[in-house]
Amino acid sequence: MTAVRIDGTAMAQVVRAEVAEGVAQLKASHGITPGLAVVLVGEDPASQVYVRNKVKQTEACGMRSYHHVLSKDTTRESLLRLIASLNADIDVHGILVQLPLPAHLDSKDVIESIDPAKDVDGFHTANVGELWTGGAPFVPCTPLGCLRLLKSVEPNISGKHAVVIGRSNIVGRPMAALLLNESATVTIAHSKTQDLPALCRQADILVAAVGRPEMVKSDWIKPGAIVLDVGINRVATEDGKGRLVGDVDFADVSAVAGAITPVPGGPGPMTIACLLANTLEAAKRRVSQ
Ligand code: GUN
Repeated sequence: MTAVRIDGTAMAQVVRAEVAEGVAQLKASHGITPGLAVVLVGEDPASQVYVRNKVKQTEACGMRSYHHVLSKDTTRESLLRLIASLNADIDVHGILVQLPLPAHLDSKDVIESIDPAKDVDGFHTANVGELWTGGAPFVPCTPLGCLRLLKSVEPNISGKHAVVIGRSNIVGRPMAALLLNESATVTIAHSKTQDLPALCRQADILVAAVGRPEMVKSDWIKPGAIVLDVGINRVATEDGKGRLVGDVDFADVSAVAGAITPVPGGPGPMTIACLLANTLEAAKRRVSQ
């Protein structure tokens, strides 16, 4: 079997076009332009790249972007002051504080200071609680993108066994909640899980979000399973440039799986697209209040 390749780049383009259409409609009907504020503390190079992409794509779909860069020594008080001003700003519909934060800042403390109605990352405990109790919260963008990719190849998730490897607040836990809300039978695996390959072989849907390059091999996969690879790992190459790989050995697993996301070009591009969708949704909720 050669697995169907699930194209995250193409799907992200579809989502961005939907968002651009929604933004145009909101402008026409209510004269409102959705605005996203992105806060970056420090100079982490990977975060700088993500933030630059977020700003570019926000503007490309017709939304306003407010970009705040704070020094790595920023105090808790000045960061919380900025967030309070963004909470109060009626032109700002979504707020994203790029993680990780420098070690002296407590990310939970910072996230809890964001107005849940502007928490387009879906990280505030009010949104997390809503997700686990079947409400209509803002859902973290990477799992939301994964669900959309999954539904593009398997609309009927109900009753399927989904195994999620990874229990982070950004991916693993919200992914498990989303799958549970779709009536999948969900198992969350992590670094202490015993006999992970045997567990993964039971999965109709496998989501890998651990940050271990090409850890998942073909003999971990139930024939025909759908595999979503959230990992983005840079590995060394002979020419010194390095290469991006996922948590799944793509070539090997493609011989057994029914469908699989590549890296790059899988869940990665969907994350920002879903952030834009959440920001549009935040603006729509404000006007319908
Ligand atoms: N760092 C890595 N992924 C994310 C994300 O989805 N949101 C934020 N705020 N920071 C991140």
